[in-house]
Amino acid sequence: MAFVITIDGPSGSGKGTIASRLAAQLGWRCLDSGALYRLLGYAAEQSGVSLDNGARLAEIALGMKIEFQQDKILLDGKDVSLAIRTEQAGNAASKVAAVPEVRTALLEWQRACAIEPGLVADGRDMGSVVFPFADVKIFLDASAEERARRRYNQLIEKGLSANLGSLIAEISERDDRDRNRSVAPLKAPEGALIVDSTALSIDEVLKRVMDRVRK
Ligand code: CDP
Repeated sequence: MAFVITIDGPSGSGKGTIASRLAAQLGWRCLDSGALYRLLGYAAEQSGVSLDNGARLAEIALGMKIEFQQDKILLDGKDVSLAIRTEQAGNAASKVAAVPEVRTALLEWQRACAIEPGLVADGRDMGSVVFPFADVKIFLDASAEERARRRYNQLIEKGLSANLGSLIAEISERDDRDRNRSVAPLKAPEGALIVDSTALSIDEVLKRVMDRVRK
């Protein structure tokens, strides 16, 4: 059985960075589940499908041909790595993620990623719904301002435009939607180690997580 580490948390809490570093350190596979919702939101917007049409969204989700390459994500053979990282794609992702049919459609695909020797999975419901029997569960948090600042730096680094004020507003709006939705609401799963990364460096967070993994 694969060893599974789940890292859940709100937007910009650093879960993506921590998950990929951890996976690289352990030599395990990494699942960026948020990318799946971003891909679906993007694909739906491209084909003019309403972001609350459960039946059509599930159909698109089941038909998506996704390839995670080194630092690229391909959707039906097309490189969409940058297109899915915009705030617009993040918002579309959080809308489709609130649709129950979508979550059901993406469940098996995600579970199939748990292959030996281990998987590090990051998202909102990794420890609660997708891998409830995970060996180690982490919940990463940080203040909304700090998370918006990190997202701002990421976007600027990628050469995309960004505005800090509107990022704080968008992150808070997305938090509300993710926390208050009826399916898989964002919350710390039972038994999770909760890490507030507001004042911690990536290395400090990684150390706390590794200490828990080694226990
Ligand atoms: O990087 P960031 O946290 O901004 O977003 P993400 O992890 O790429 O996820 C984008 C959106 O997908 C989130 O706002 C959630 O609404 C949704 N999501 C989810 O519902 N469940 C997951 N396991 C992962 C993401």
